[in-house]
Amino acid sequence: MHTKLTAAAPAKVEDLRREIVGIDTLVPLLDGTERSYVFLDNAASTPALRSVLNAVEEFLPWYSGVHRGTGFKSILATGVFDAAHDAIGKFVGADLERNTVVFTKNTTECVNRLANRFRFAPGDTVITTIMEHHSNDLPWRKNARVIHIGITPDGHPDLAAMKAAIARGKGSLRLVAVSGASNITGICSPIHDIAAWAHASGAGIFVDAAQLAPHRAINMLPDDDPRHIDFLALSAHKMYAPFGTGVLVGPKEFFNAGDPDLVGGGVVDIVTLDRAVWNRPPHKEEAGSPNVIGGVALAAAVRRLESVGMDAIAAHEQELLAYGYARLKRIKNVLLYGPTDHLEEKVGVMAFNVEGMHHSLVAAILGVEGGIGVRDGCFCAHPYVKELLHVGPEADRVFTEEVMSGNKSNMPGMVRASLGCYNIREDIDALVEMLERVAGGAYRGTYDQDPATGAFHARGYHVDFARYCSLAGQPFPDRIHSEAS
Ligand SMILES: Cc1ncc(COP(=O)(O)O)c(C=O)c1O
Repeated sequence: MHTKLTAAAPAKVEDLRREIVGIDTLVPLLDGTERSYVFLDNAASTPALRSVLNAVEEFLPWYSGVHRGTGFKSILATGVFDAAHDAIGKFVGADLERNTVVFTKNTTECVNRLANRFRFAPGDTVITTIMEHHSNDLPWRKNARVIHIGITPDGHPDLAAMKAAIARGKGSLRLVAVSGASNITGICSPIHDIAAWAHASGAGIFVDAAQLAPHRAINMLPDDDPRHIDFLALSAHKMYAPFGTGVLVGPKEFFNAGDPDLVGGGVVDIVTLDRAVWNRPPHKEEAGSPNVIGGVALAAAVRRLESVGMDAIAAHEQELLAYGYARLKRIKNVLLYGPTDHLEEKVGVMAFNVEGMHHSLVAAILGVEGGIGVRDGCFCAHPYVKELLHVGPEADRVFTEEVMSGNKSNMPGMVRASLGCYNIREDIDALVEMLERVAGGAYRGTYDQDPATGAFHARGYHVDFARYCSLAGQPFPDRIHSEAS
């Protein structure tokens, strides 16, 4: 008997909606009714694709620890796991002769691992922007001297300032670290232009592709191309494969040099009492027993996305985004952040506020009265959000002090609706309809704010979560709120 790993049948974008696990899930509303959940929080995490789940189910009977086993299942599983690395490398256009694909647990881990791995010398500089997610900022700050490039009034990184800073940095500049797409405004950076500037200055480029990879075709380009991307990271949970895998792609030569960041089993060829001889990458960088299922799941996801075509996905999401903005712009009192025209330069993330209302209140109402999943706050990109909101230094100082004293009531922020390849116009319609009610003051509930979290809770919304999912146990807190993504 031979195993058959699910081959993705050619599909159209419209087919993907049917494939989303939980697409018709009913959720309870404040008025006691239920409605199908409207999932507009894809920038945080996407739901799983059925083809991903099928691949995991198909693989599970063959699951075994990889690389070190001699049994049939281990040999088979090793082949599948290694092929998953290659599938993801090809998905981002990496030359796998010269580059390696390292599996981690998420983008955050990738950036931390890379920052540690660089072993910066004193004075070494990294250029990044204030548009970044904290995951593409704090790991660099911890390890090197970081220069933050500012933004233009509409939220784009100031490319003229970046180009000049990169040219000035020649000598001490080691890396330019930019996001492929922003998790707040969806703005895409011209990563290949930036790569050329960085290379001309003797530096490398790292692209945080957490928000780009689910939405656009990526091509790292051949290594000898000046516009080539040196390092790239992404997260499977944002790509319809939420099984705990992240991916870091980079040159074998880079990872061959020096010690791995994490050490232990799997990273060595031989160990004596006073010496360890490192294995080759990616093994050298994947210490311990890897998340085999996570890798298999992500490979299934990229195969499915490829079978539809990333350009078709991008076109579908662009059409939805244009529709979304056209409708949102017509709602009185709704403030939109970042570009709302020239949408080809951004992925499907729409950040907004309702004038005069706390962002957390708006998000709570959308959730409990509309069954709409969005997110609010500063989305792990505090400097960027505060800049877009024109929060001055004095106000920033006051907010910071309040938060440090345990009060998040006045934290500035926005609401974010973010699209995936399976969303449809009806999802936008549901959002717009609820927002019209919210902005017109026509929502029904009474909401109290918890100063410790800043979250708003609807009075009387006490749900038996275990009725919906037996794993939820009960009682569950009225609402769980912690800032992420
Ligand atoms: C642009 C960007 N970079 C990095 C991350 C971190 O990803 P993860 O939480 O999977 O580590 C996120 C998460 O939202 C993101 O949006």
